[in-house]
Amino acid sequence: MKILFASSEVAPFIKTGGLADVAGSLPPALAADKTNDVRVILPLYAGIGDTWRSQMSFVKYFYLQLGWRSCYCGLFQLDRGGVTYYFVDNETYFKRNGLYGHYDDGERFAYFSKAVIELPAQIGWSPDIIHCNDWQTALIPIYLMEARKYVPELTGAKTVYTIHNIEYQGRYGNSILTDVFGLDYNTYFNEHMLAYYNDVNLMKGAIYASDYVTTVSPTYANELQYAFYAHGLEGVIAENQHKIRGILNGIDMDAFNSEKDPKIAANFSIDDLSGKAICKADLQRQLGLEEDPDAAIIGSISRLVGHKGYDLITAAFDRIMDNHVQFVLLGTGEWGFEEFFRNAQARYPGRVSSNITYSAPLSSAIYAGADLFLMPSIAEPCGLSQMIALRYGTVPIVRLTGGLKDSVPAYDPETKEGLGFTFGNINAEDMLGAVDRALAVYDDKEAWTDLMKQGMQADFSWNKSAEEYMEIYRTILM
Ligand code: GLC
Repeated sequence: MKILFASSEVAPFIKTGGLADVAGSLPPALAADKTNDVRVILPLYAGIGDTWRSQMSFVKYFYLQLGWRSCYCGLFQLDRGGVTYYFVDNETYFKRNGLYGHYDDGERFAYFSKAVIELPAQIGWSPDIIHCNDWQTALIPIYLMEARKYVPELTGAKTVYTIHNIEYQGRYGNSILTDVFGLDYNTYFNEHMLAYYNDVNLMKGAIYASDYVTTVSPTYANELQYAFYAHGLEGVIAENQHKIRGILNGIDMDAFNSEKDPKIAANFSIDDLSGKAICKADLQRQLGLEEDPDAAIIGSISRLVGHKGYDLITAAFDRIMDNHVQFVLLGTGEWGFEEFFRNAQARYPGRVSSNITYSAPLSSAIYAGADLFLMPSIAEPCGLSQMIALRYGTVPIVRLTGGLKDSVPAYDPETKEGLGFTFGNINAEDMLGAVDRALAVYDDKEAWTDLMKQGMQADFSWNKSAEEYMEIYRTILM
């Protein structure tokens, strides 16, 4: 099967969040089946460094039409791990700082989507499946509706659209439709396409136009029926329920492997956990925390935004700190949360370390060196951090939502089954209850060691989920 995977970010080339991890690990998993020809396409941002650029080869350039604009489109190629990557070069749109948040994001990603639609004819390759992700690539299935009628390379192509987070929909004033997107108003501005309260809503259009829609966990797929989770698209979800399914993301089990990871202070395995204590001491030392092996370190790595549950953490913070614990935070986000954690570090010297930044080495050190990983998200389509934490014997405390619910079965002290500590209501008291239950088990060294090992052995590989995507691809191609 020929699969073209389109994403606005792809690890390891460029990343702001979980989307990049998925776009970086699902295609190689699909390519493990040698009968598949898997290619990935992404923008060539300024942030993609020379280590990658030096490995790329120039394919060709052409001009594409975006509304009345004639735009340069350069194509570069890089082959890696059985997958071909195409980078779309246009300096006007992509030679900037950061990936998103520019005044013309709608135009930039409409351009990218158009480039994806142009690629097959330009390289003489006919994809069976074009797999699109989030609002940035939502115009692809829409452009394809026209293009498949007259481009031979696209006549057989079917589309899958994956929602990684429904909060970001790509909503613009309706004048963008013809002026920028180059779409016919009468055909595309209607309730079963892009029209949404007199605006244009890209995610809505993609849900209607795609042959199949997936989201990143079964529980999130279910939650999307409710207005609370669907952010205004619950009606659209209901109307398209027949072609929507939740598939849990996997992670790269080799990259996140406590036995081999060269980035951590010491390696460890279920047979020899001694390295974990070295990682913990190393984390305390590098962050200036008390070198206390008995204090339970609670880690948190995330964007500091409301939907990640930071209101619960800040409300309960002093009561969490009443225990024999240390708290390590890594992330940036809303000013109020940043300020809270800066203060918390000053109020609890030697016990709280607030790192208001993003740092890959520190994130590895926290996954490996912490004892607990706190992730009380209000909504979490999938979440990858809880799985990564488990790989390093760091036990998650999560709210039962989305992929957190699907990947962290609650620990039962009677049967000793489960992987972490959970709570259901969006309520700081309930979260504290889960923290207390976790700390009670932490004090029982034998039970705790078994729990760590259970997590380290859990299977978060792509095998099963990649097979589920293949099943969907096959169904829509029939
Ligand atoms: C988004 C979601 C996150 C998910 C990731 C990858 O970042 O917020 O929950 O894990 O996409 O699908």
